[in-house]
Amino acid sequence: MSQVKLGIVGGGVIGRRHAGAIANADAAVLVAIADPAPSGRQLAENMNVPLYSDLQELLAREAIDGVIVSTPTEHHFNPTITALDGGCHVLVEKPIMATLEEADQVVVKADASNCHVLVGHHRRYYGLIHRAREIIQSGELGQLVAVSGQWTVRKADAYFHPDWRKKWEAGPILTNLIHEMDSLRYICGEVESISAEVSHAVRNWEKEDAVAMIMRFSSGAIGTFMLSDQATSPWAWELGTGETEFFPRTAQNSIRFMGTKAALDFPNLTLWHHNDDPPDWNHLISPDPLELKLEDAFSLQIAHFAAVIAGRESPIINAADGTRTLRTTLAVFEAARSGQRVMV
Ligand SMILES: NC(=O)c1ccc[n+]([C@@H]2O[C@H](COP(=O)([O-])OP(=O)(O)OC[C@H]3O[C@@H](n4cnc5c(N)ncnc54)[C@H](O)[C@@H]3O)[C@@H](O)[C@H]2O)c1
Repeated sequence: MSQVKLGIVGGGVIGRRHAGAIANADAAVLVAIADPAPSGRQLAENMNVPLYSDLQELLAREAIDGVIVSTPTEHHFNPTITALDGGCHVLVEKPIMATLEEADQVVVKADASNCHVLVGHHRRYYGLIHRAREIIQSGELGQLVAVSGQWTVRKADAYFHPDWRKKWEAGPILTNLIHEMDSLRYICGEVESISAEVSHAVRNWEKEDAVAMIMRFSSGAIGTFMLSDQATSPWAWELGTGETEFFPRTAQNSIRFMGTKAALDFPNLTLWHHNDDPPDWNHLISPDPLELKLEDAFSLQIAHFAAVIAGRESPIINAADGTRTLRTTLAVFEAARSGQRVMV
């Protein structure tokens, strides 16, 4: 199989993760990195590839098929447009863009080009996410009635030392909830409306400390979700799955899906059902753990990106889909600000 040639713009925390995934990939090879900062130089040295100060210079010197945009969110737009103008496919980190205006422009530009834009919602590559979607969409729970979820952790004090981490763009809604929203959309279908209450009572910074949400899904199901980066708890996706070594695993579940016939505890999938008895509270409901191993989502994402570039697969999450996740997530700010239910 011939290898697709990739470049990375932004060699920071997640850029390193992509570089590692490319190094282990059969179908892709890393050609160069663009990053003006020392972190990029370090990564280029480690990966033994040339370093350029920006993407334009990289594209002028190297022949590549695809670009991974892993710059800070407010710098996703320019490299994405530059890559498309250069005839390259793009895998842009989440959130797709910092604003809906930028995201909409990228959707139009991608549609008008021969290139694909994929969005780095890496959880879409886990088998457990597909299994949860299948269980709910196939009606295994009966009609989905309610969803109860949370993502509540206390981030380390050092995380907030850079001033930009105190700003609203770096708060848990845009940084963390966007992953949850993408998973909820994928598993349950579109979110139709959102109401929200927000609190800054712990840190008193521009970014929010905690959010309580009420959601209505297009299917008619309703849901609640608690979010905080200031609340000590074992209940958040990263802790539940042990997805990275940085956040020790608790194996606790953090989202519950409840239907008319059965319920699903998530992400360590446990199906609660009544076996052959009628599904009501007069009969014993028992847990059925579904064994699934956690794959390396970043490697699967690179393999998929390479297959899309080679024309063998269609994007699992394209720019329009990533924009819908952004739109749904940004609606939480508007709901909290206005005190009104916001239609997504
Ligand atoms: N998928 C995930 O789970 C996940 C996890 C972490 C971060 N992210 C996303 O990845 C993006 C980057 O986050 P990070 O934590 O790696 O940030 P980071 O600060 O560690 O790294 C960003 C890098 O981009 C470089 N950079 C800045 N502007 C640039 C430009 N114009 N051209 C080239 N390089 C530039 C910086 O020098 C830095 O090395 C963000 O959008 C974030 O939301 C996704």
